[in-house]
Amino acid sequence: MQPVPSTLWLTGLSAAGKTTVALAVAESLTAQGVPCRVLDGDAVRKQLCSDLGFSRADRSENVRRVAQWCAQINNTGTWAIAALISPYRDDRERARQIVGASRFHEVHVATPLSVCEARDPKGLYRSARAGAISSFTGISDIYEPPQAPALSIDTDRQSTQACVLATLALLGMTIASARPPARLA
Ligand code: ADX
Repeated sequence: MQPVPSTLWLTGLSAAGKTTVALAVAESLTAQGVPCRVLDGDAVRKQLCSDLGFSRADRSENVRRVAQWCAQINNTGTWAIAALISPYRDDRERARQIVGASRFHEVHVATPLSVCEARDPKGLYRSARAGAISSFTGISDIYEPPQAPALSIDTDRQSTQACVLATLALLGMTIASARPPARLA
């Protein structure tokens, strides 16, 4: 039996690997006929949340809107995979309430700051260190790690595939069980 369509909420620093894991999990689910949708911070901020910046209030609103969207997606029978820094605990708790606790799975992408900063794919950490970007998470703004995440992964120490398998296991799925039942001829 497949689990109820739910929300995977990936939280972690910029460049922690949230998007990579989200897309890999989505690819695995899709390949097995499980409908899912990825809501990625960078993409969402160009669309639904293009009016928001990075103040505390704006980040809260960003998280709130994405959580509402996840709830709607789940209501239509589709899995939602949110990949957002979502740095504040209160906001994530509100997201949990919006989605519904039983279908909200918080995954901490706990790649250390030193690794994220060394990766720096967009040069944002360097800009933040130079003071050219203000309120940058991990440098000049706080990140509050989950105290009891459903799962914690570290993309520096674990392969993407290992992260995907751990995430599927969290949902009670293996690659085989996520597959829809075979049709009898
Ligand atoms: S959140 O804090 O509101 O959850 P979100 O995940 O949507 O953030 O967007 C994060 C992305 O915005 C980062 O990966 C980075 O590319 C970009 N960004 C730009 N300014 C900042 C900033 N001050 N802090 C964090 N990320 C920023």
